[in-house]
Amino acid sequence: MNGFTASELNELRNQFPALHQSIYGKPLIYLDNAATTQKPQLVIDRITKYYTFENCNIHRGVHYLSQEATAAYEDVRAKVAGFIHAAKSEEVIFTRGTTESINLIASSFGKLLFETGDSVLITGMEHHSNLVPWQQLCKNHNGELLVAELDERGEVSMEQYGKLLEQKPKLVAITHISNALGTVNPIKEMIAMAHANDIPVLIDGAQSVAHMRIDVQELDCDFFVFSGHKMYGPMGVGVLYGKQKWLEQMPPWQFGGEMVDQVSLHETTFNQLPFKFEAGTPNVAGVLGLGAAIDFLQQTDLEKIGLHEMIILNYALEKLKSIPGIRIIGNAAERAGVISFVVEGTHPSDIGTLLDKMGVAVRTGHHCAQPVMTHFNVPGTVRASFAAYNSLAEADIFVEAVQKAVNMLC
Ligand code: ALA
Repeated sequence: MNGFTASELNELRNQFPALHQSIYGKPLIYLDNAATTQKPQLVIDRITKYYTFENCNIHRGVHYLSQEATAAYEDVRAKVAGFIHAAKSEEVIFTRGTTESINLIASSFGKLLFETGDSVLITGMEHHSNLVPWQQLCKNHNGELLVAELDERGEVSMEQYGKLLEQKPKLVAITHISNALGTVNPIKEMIAMAHANDIPVLIDGAQSVAHMRIDVQELDCDFFVFSGHKMYGPMGVGVLYGKQKWLEQMPPWQFGGEMVDQVSLHETTFNQLPFKFEAGTPNVAGVLGLGAAIDFLQQTDLEKIGLHEMIILNYALEKLKSIPGIRIIGNAAERAGVISFVVEGTHPSDIGTLLDKMGVAVRTGHHCAQPVMTHFNVPGTVRASFAAYNSLAEADIFVEAVQKAVNMLC
């Protein structure tokens, strides 16, 4: 199977109004997709339709609009469950995003299982959102955060990972794809290794869910978390998938309306799954927009998206490598559509600023992964990250722009 044909790509790009604008008089080349993707018209329309005609609080009203909104919201839960191949809708909890999903688990799973001296095992490539909650949980229990280190290519040392599992951490928390390096971790193998030691595993899927098929049952992960806005959906909505056996045992993490069953002045019983973890009025518009984003991904064909992005990645990587002074940060054998690089004698933010003036949007800095930068001994990188709608022509413009920036600075 190939990536998209020219006409398919054209049709796809036409669904994204934001791509058809100029920045400083130059056509926008949007390569900051690991930070957030642009939104297709059907997502924008779904949110507008909700606020125009359907706006209502859910799970609370007997009237028409409330019942319709409740049904639409719960339909998206079932759609998410189908999309990630969860066994049950009740295993899908809506949150504000990946960060909130991880914090929920750290708080609730932490209360359920953590005792003095307990540890969590992560990798050296985690985003701060899959590092700081565990670091703090360990500190609060006088435990140690165990870290499977990276090698010079930006891959996890599996030998060391295996050894650290023998220390019996209470949880393994690993990213599927590194946002800073593009490394794709062998999570199926890592999950199996952890389970062989009776250790549950959380997968941070923020950077993978829009780029490859996810099957949480096949992976057998205990938790899988992701955000709507990195998968063509809105900001402020995300998902926590958890195996029912864990979610049933875990205590609520926020208290308020909807998550309760019976309340008296001195006692409360809690609602069943998934509502136990959804206190307060949820982001209904966001959830409906997320549902539309899943429709977009399914219509577009996730497998084709992944292939298309790999074609662009490999093409851009080869061309970039020919620029003198470029150092690619992260050269894992299995990688996704992310290129991080530095240019000898320049600062990443200077390159990023010059690219911006040429209409090319990239991210510069530490990408919320400071330990990764420390590992590679760089202050930060320039990062280009690709999505379904990017083209080889854009990759050409990007590489030419980098060359021009290097000529100006060096
Ligand atoms: N986590 C996002 C990124 O990698 C913000 O840019």
